[in-house]
Amino acid sequence: MTRKLFVTTALPYANAAFHIGHIMEYIQADTWVRFQRMQGHEVHFVCADDAHGAPIMIAAEKAGLTPQQFVAGIAAGRKPYLDGFHIGFDNWHSTDAPENHELARSIYLALRANELIDVKTVEQFYDPQKGMFLPDRFIKGECPNCGARDQYGDNCENCGAVYAPTELRNPYSALSGARPELRSSEHFFFRLSDPRCVEFLEHWTQDGRLQSEVANKVKEWFKRDVDGRSGLGDWDISREAPYFGIEIPDAPGKYFYVWLDAPVGYLASLKNLFDRLGIDFDAYLADPALEQIHFIGKDIVTFHTLFWPAMLKFSGRKVPDRVYVHGFLTVSGEKMSKSRGTGISPLRYLELGLDAEWLRYYIAAKLNDRVEDLDFNPEDFCARVNADLVGKYINIASRAAGFLAKRFDGQLAADLGVEGRVLIDGLRAQADAVRALYEGREYGKALREVMLLADRVNEFVDRHKPWELAKRPGMDAALHDVCSVCIEAFRILTLYLKPVLPALASRVEAFLQIAPLQWADAARAMGHHRIGLYQHLMQRVDPKQVDALFEPAVAETAAPALPGGEAIAGEIGIADFAKVDLRIARIVAAAHVEGSTKLLRLSLDAGEGRLRNVFSGIASAHKPEALVGRLTVLVANLAPRKMKFGVSEGMVLAASHADEKAQPGIFLLEPGAGAEPGLRVR
Ligand code: 2FM
Ligand code: ZN
Repeated sequence: MTRKLFVTTALPYANAAFHIGHIMEYIQADTWVRFQRMQGHEVHFVCADDAHGAPIMIAAEKAGLTPQQFVAGIAAGRKPYLDGFHIGFDNWHSTDAPENHELARSIYLALRANELIDVKTVEQFYDPQKGMFLPDRFIKGECPNCGARDQYGDNCENCGAVYAPTELRNPYSALSGARPELRSSEHFFFRLSDPRCVEFLEHWTQDGRLQSEVANKVKEWFKRDVDGRSGLGDWDISREAPYFGIEIPDAPGKYFYVWLDAPVGYLASLKNLFDRLGIDFDAYLADPALEQIHFIGKDIVTFHTLFWPAMLKFSGRKVPDRVYVHGFLTVSGEKMSKSRGTGISPLRYLELGLDAEWLRYYIAAKLNDRVEDLDFNPEDFCARVNADLVGKYINIASRAAGFLAKRFDGQLAADLGVEGRVLIDGLRAQADAVRALYEGREYGKALREVMLLADRVNEFVDRHKPWELAKRPGMDAALHDVCSVCIEAFRILTLYLKPVLPALASRVEAFLQIAPLQWADAARAMGHHRIGLYQHLMQRVDPKQVDALFEPAVAETAAPALPGGEAIAGEIGIADFAKVDLRIARIVAAAHVEGSTKLLRLSLDAGEGRLRNVFSGIASAHKPEALVGRLTVLVANLAPRKMKFGVSEGMVLAASHADEKAQPGIFLLEPGAGAEPGLRVR
């Protein structure tokens, strides 16, 4: 039966680029999704930026941007990571999108109608200078336990004590330095302590849908006190303005706490996708066969196993079927910091030319279904990639493909010989076992199984020595059989590895000249078939490349404040930059465009023996006659764009403020003396 799966990964805060921990989670989920699709199941796999909250609001302010501009800058930098590591989300959305505003408010209203929202007065630190209530992380002071200075409002980094911000000695605002005042305000609470919620959650968390270690941890939170009252406390879901978030219905100036609307973003992203695809969102979620699955890290279990299912349940919605929790990624045994990540920058990894699928393979090889941390160890990484992935698996194809091409015109033998058939049958027989391991997220075991199968194939090759058969007269048929067995074995192993190595698998499919591999193809033989020419499939990793990964590089940070009021765009690699062909061009003619106050029509000589027609929005700052004869920089490989006034064949570069209306000025770029039309700018 075809399963219907709605799969998500945690929504990353839109205040920084991805770190390797995000990529690990995406690899885990993406592998599972690809595996399910190979079974023929229907999967929708979505994510989004977690845009709201005080930290993002404050970071945006520091950068001189609106929170919307700030998160847009972060969102713009996501693609190279996702494409680079072959993470195949069907949609990437934002919790600040209209769908999320609407869904969060409607969920809240349903909870309120269900009498699960309370109002309580809360005393909190207020920064009189900034005019806002301070989140715990923005209050500092001396630790009440050991006296260490400059400690955060919730715990001490010196002695490890945990306390309330009000217990700090000599507290100060980390934003302004001002001494915070205690002020009270009305907050909204989700009544998780309501017996209906407790009863539901006691069942939902303990009915076997969670990993046992997670279920046990959650159980502790339910411990009843002597009065028999549940241990679950009510949850503060509101924050006072100023706050970047979703305004609460009927409560002007009050906003949902970011964690209220964050998981709603899963639904919002799906809805946004469905609206585009023309699929009925409500009908999809109403299907009892639908499985809703969240992949998350161990730090956000409470939100996903208490608040989120209860929010859904008591607003009359579908509850999650599974929450798959993974541990953290450590590097050579060292824990990474949530804000700074680890020593490994995912983008640098790609820029250095390391193969994304090495990392996918390595991470998968170390993943299991438990909440264990996973360690990236450079030597281990090189060993697994070179000895296993390339040495055992890729090698099989390279050993056989040459003979097939040279001696048999790429044609596979119809009969594989007795021993060959036994080997192939043995490989096929593992399809169900490997399937079960992927299904259960035991990727490490799955890959170990596949490598054991590769060992068998290599033993077969070593026994039959095709390189000797090739030299012996009259042994053509035997050589043909052995090489054909290798290729069929390689096809089956590729199929088993495909959820982890999708790009490699598609190169193999091209080489073998076969349709995209599905799980059921394990049982089907290629038979009398002609394969294509072998092309190099995968490099070995050079340990030097991995060393370079750990050399200090420019840190990936959130957008800093810059004159001009615009944050630095998401990081790109040198390869991305190289795609942009910039050339020196001479402005041969320039004229106003009838019907436009903004545009000038430029005729440019970029040394191509022809003139280019470019429309440029620089009319407000440049007189056409003053431009003629000047050199500037042309984006020469921009796709031609059809405009109202004609086709524009490129773009010239100019500097301006983000808000041109408030701060006019357009400054056309000009090369230094001696430059000539046609020179490349790099
Ligand atoms: O911990 C985090 O990074 C959160 N931004 C995760 C949110 S997951 C979901 F609830 F949105
Ligand atoms: Zn302390």
